[in-house]
Amino acid sequence: MNHIKIICVCGAGTMGSGIAQVAAQAGFQTIQFDLNPDMVEKSKQSIETGLTKMVDKGRMTIADKDAIVNRILFTSDIQQCRADLIIEAIIEKKEAKTGLFQSLSVINAPDTILATNTSSISVTEIAVTIPYPERVIGMHFFNPAPLMKLVEIIRTDKNTDLIIEKTLSVTKQMQKTPVLCKDAPGFIVNRVARHYYLEAMRFVEKEQVSIESIDQLMEASGFKMGPFKLMDLIGMDINYGVSNIVWEALDKPVRLTPSPLQRAKVEAGELGRKTGKGFYNYGSSQ
Ligand SMILES: NC(=O)c1ccc[n+]([C@@H]2O[C@H](COP(=O)([O-])OP(=O)(O)OC[C@H]3O[C@@H](n4cnc5c(N)ncnc54)[C@H](O)[C@@H]3O)[C@@H](O)[C@H]2O)c1
Repeated sequence: MNHIKIICVCGAGTMGSGIAQVAAQAGFQTIQFDLNPDMVEKSKQSIETGLTKMVDKGRMTIADKDAIVNRILFTSDIQQCRADLIIEAIIEKKEAKTGLFQSLSVINAPDTILATNTSSISVTEIAVTIPYPERVIGMHFFNPAPLMKLVEIIRTDKNTDLIIEKTLSVTKQMQKTPVLCKDAPGFIVNRVARHYYLEAMRFVEKEQVSIESIDQLMEASGFKMGPFKLMDLIGMDINYGVSNIVWEALDKPVRLTPSPLQRAKVEAGELGRKTGKGFYNYGSSQ
């Protein structure tokens, strides 16, 4: 089995930046690519800040931190995206993801694994548009990627056993816990968790309960984050997009109807922490 040495992460937003950090921390040569040079710069700063906090807490040395940052090539030039494993974490739009993989398949070997971090788009529907579709697989990380252990590995009927084995193995090398899932709408976590968000928003709309009360109660009952704080962390555009895709893929069941409350937030550009305002105010984007 050929071993994976170079990992390229496409998209330098909330998830891509965290995944690039995870890859470099695990010792892989890492490429962090985004079309937008400002996002590339922001990712570099965010990774450095994250690692500096670990140095301050005594969890790594300055030399370790420098070595990790030096293992990452930050770029906005797609021609530099040549790797053994490419993980895309760009916007949640099928056409954008298939377009990116098509461009990358021209400059990479046929056995380069093309993994998508999509939260909800059918991995099979992406795979069938790409040359050598057997190497297209889902690697669904959770937010924040450097902290969350779970990675859903979404297999399609086209994947070979070798591709699945290599993806499971590299995920473990990245110090994560892979769980193999079928390619079904919302996979497992996002399907089950949809109600956590949707019921909470319905409650606010119909019963006029405050978002703060719901978050406080859910946290007091044992959840790490209340649904509104979690939606702000995920990003309203991403979470609303997932709700729509899952709802449509399951033939629009009433119980999974996307919330007008969240649509209004998206339309107002109040996307959560990344824009400085979502259900809560954060002062400046973080
Ligand atoms: N936010 C979450 O909590 C979360 C969790 C798991 C999975 N995901 C998935 O990860 C992906 C990224 O989500 P995010 O929250 O990081 O989004 P984001 O909006 O924070 O970042 C997306 C980045 O992709 C870049 N981009 C857009 N088109 C591109 C292209 N063609 N080539 C290169 N870069 C491009 C943008 O410039 C932006 O920097 C989505 O598919 C989302 O569903 C998100």
